Amino acid sequence: METIIITTAVVTGFTGILAILLTLADRTIANYGEKKLVINEDREYIVKGGSTLLSALIEEKIFIPSACGGKGTCGYCKVKVLEGGGQVLPTELTWLTEEELKNSMRLSCQCKIKEDMKIYIPEELFNVREYEATVELIEDMTSVIKKVRLRLSEGAEIDFKPGQYIQLKIPAYDGNDEEDYRAYSIASSPHDKNHIDLYIGYTGGTATTYVHKFLKEGDKVYINGPYGDFYYHDNRDKEMILVAVGTGIAPILSILHYMAENEIDRKATFYFGARTPDDLFELDLIKYFEEKIPNFKFIPTLSRVTEEHKWTGARGRVNVHLEKDIENADNKEAYLCGSPAMIDTVVELLKKKGFTDENIFYDKF
Ligand code: FES
Repeated sequence: METIIITTAVVTGFTGILAILLTLADRTIANYGEKKLVINEDREYIVKGGSTLLSALIEEKIFIPSACGGKGTCGYCKVKVLEGGGQVLPTELTWLTEEELKNSMRLSCQCKIKEDMKIYIPEELFNVREYEATVELIEDMTSVIKKVRLRLSEGAEIDFKPGQYIQLKIPAYDGNDEEDYRAYSIASSPHDKNHIDLYIGYTGGTATTYVHKFLKEGDKVYINGPYGDFYYHDNRDKEMILVAVGTGIAPILSILHYMAENEIDRKATFYFGARTPDDLFELDLIKYFEEKIPNFKFIPTLSRVTEEHKWTGARGRVNVHLEKDIENADNKEAYLCGSPAMIDTVVELLKKKGFTDENIFYDKF
């Protein structure tokens, strides 16, 4: 028994040392030089070998969605690698379906450029631009959520669909050595092309620490976008079920701005889940939407109220009310935004009521 334990420890130790040596060798000895990157067959770039595909694309001002700052934990940065790219790494497997693996999809943040490569990316990503902006306003919405309003510099304009998101560049700061990007949904009206409103909740991570502890009004920031296939579908007239928790309210507010400004009178009910009355925000703006959009109804529902709160509104999680209020899927579609747990629960519930994939749009974060 003792021999087995010693042998296992020696093998584990040896493997660990080998892995460290290989990583160090890759970083210090390996010099891949310059490599050719061909995108969509007709665009050629000479890029630094050894860097990740994601950072090489950013260097060329080609922006791929990347909500985790290249850490391999969001699964957003998928591109199709037609040639080069080597073996799929274990860190990518969690995020790639069998279908995607068959179609040569890779996580660009994990895939290193060690040889010439050919890749394919959706043409619309070439329209994603980087914008310089000034922080015009920072306002506390709750004890953990700040509203950040950005004004694009020199009259620049951004075209986006209500529901889409941008990526905010997180610079190095005291306690964070590396630049990073984080995705935030746009909360403002798509008609105001010079401003972007974001709601950013504090999590203690590098991006939210930067926003909550370092960012000031008047600071210059960089954003890129717009991104995302979660957006208001204009060509429909179905009743809308809108559901959000926490900062998931952002894209829903952008959709409501759009509906108010375009005098859209589709029936729409917005279920907003929070814990206590202190977690509700932008109530005046929502009141304005209630006055402006003829068939719009707002149902805030709180899951942790006590008698002290004197709350007379709806109680419980959003799914409790959806279960009760929605009889069937007839002529309805749903827009959901919030945590993966909330979205999974609500999607399951809606599907039981007859909703199909085509009638459920969601943005998990
Ligand atoms: S998985 Fe998040 S950027 Fe690649």
